Amino acid sequence: MKKTILIIGGGGREHALAWKLKRSPRVGKIYTAPGNAGTSSIGENVTIAATDILALANWAQNNKIDFTVVGSDDALALGVVDEFQKRGLKIWGPSKAASQIESSKAFAKKLMKKNNIPTAEFETFTDYQKALQYIEEKSTPIVIKVSGLALGKGVTVCKTLDEAQAALKTAMIDKAFGEAGSQIVIEEFLEGQEFSIHAFCDGKNFQLLPSSQDHKPIYNGGLGPNTGGMGTIAPVPWISEAMMSEVATTIVKPALDGLKNLGSPFVGLLYPGLMAINHPHLASPLKGEEFSVPLPEGEGSGEGAFKAIEFNARFGDPETQSYMRLLKTDLLDILEACVDGTIDKINIKWSKKSACCVVLTSGGYPGKYEKGKTITGIKEAEKMEEVIVFQAGTSIRNNQLVTNGGRVLGITAIADNLQTALNKAYAAVKLINFEGMHYRNDIGFQSLNVKGG
Ligand code: AMP
Ligand code: GLY
Repeated sequence: MKKTILIIGGGGREHALAWKLKRSPRVGKIYTAPGNAGTSSIGENVTIAATDILALANWAQNNKIDFTVVGSDDALALGVVDEFQKRGLKIWGPSKAASQIESSKAFAKKLMKKNNIPTAEFETFTDYQKALQYIEEKSTPIVIKVSGLALGKGVTVCKTLDEAQAALKTAMIDKAFGEAGSQIVIEEFLEGQEFSIHAFCDGKNFQLLPSSQDHKPIYNGGLGPNTGGMGTIAPVPWISEAMMSEVATTIVKPALDGLKNLGSPFVGLLYPGLMAINHPHLASPLKGEEFSVPLPEGEGSGEGAFKAIEFNARFGDPETQSYMRLLKTDLLDILEACVDGTIDKINIKWSKKSACCVVLTSGGYPGKYEKGKTITGIKEAEKMEEVIVFQAGTSIRNNQLVTNGGRVLGITAIADNLQTALNKAYAAVKLINFEGMHYRNDIGFQSLNVKGG
């Protein structure tokens, strides 16, 4: 019997998950709550917010859902997995307790410290005056983070003391992030190159996905405010296998063991955001200039060559859009293995190709932007070989596809090498249009001159 699936979330990540699940011979109907126009073309959308966990559990129960996949971090933080499990419903994702590794930066930092996971020096504060005194004693740049979830906007990298004072006031006095800002983490600024690691976990064991890299700032060269993510590549050519195994032993395993020791084993996808420091291939910060320093043969990472910036308790967006293009194994088999505690028994196969995703946003994002702009060109773009467009902030109005969010589309491509994949994706971008459309045209750029890139 084919399985009926519910996916919780409504972004590009969820469209990519739905697209991949649809290719499984064991998957029947796919519902997405709340979904977007992309997910409605694959299955059916359910108009329940990802945060309304009781309504989601009731709906899943009434509609005989066989397996639920959680995309959204908010749903996890609210305990959607615990609620489903209480009712005997099968669901993929970490419990509320385990997902604190993302929903509370103070919790995550404590876990890292206790388990000797390399990370930036830090202090946590609930008292404004004490926090203020601390930043006055420290040097800049310094990083100020609200502890709770803040849509990727709760982190400020402060170059000057003035900026740090302003960031503290915004979070702790003006309460711009509400309760999320009642606790603050202040940490040392790490200079380097960020990359993303993903691991499928079953509470005891885990398997790494290929490396990937997001590009968070809104403008080319890493300029402007941070967004949810403007584009990804996978795998990252300058991350060697030696470095991946070091990440597994020094970051992923101790985090999972630490959670298990707290009585909260992690089942689902653990996504540490890491900073590569002094990597021989990279200069920092990158300003879009060409890189010509080759990666040495057999490059291993060496002690202290990367540090954990944060942990997420779910798939990255837009990392997932690139990953789903490379994954060869049936995604349902993998997700079920996580829930069943058998992730060590499954042989997960990945394409040897390179994947990329270029995100198209509404003009003004991550600040204010307008919705309802007509989108054209997706059909034409998807006629290109190996190009697939995943939708994020989209909806259908009067039979037309229109923008309905900050990040609107993710244009993905795969090819034998990164350069060709990027060329294809950017050629496809040229075919798409909506009023105010913005994108970065340097996704993956800094990885191009590397062996294997
Ligand atoms: P986070 O939500 O903790 O991942 O922070 C969001 C972004 O802020 C990261 O992706 C980095 O670009 C930046 N960031 C966070 N912590 C640091 C740090 N200690 N040093 C430098 N940049 C950081
Ligand atoms: N790629 C950024 C995120 O998913 O948080």
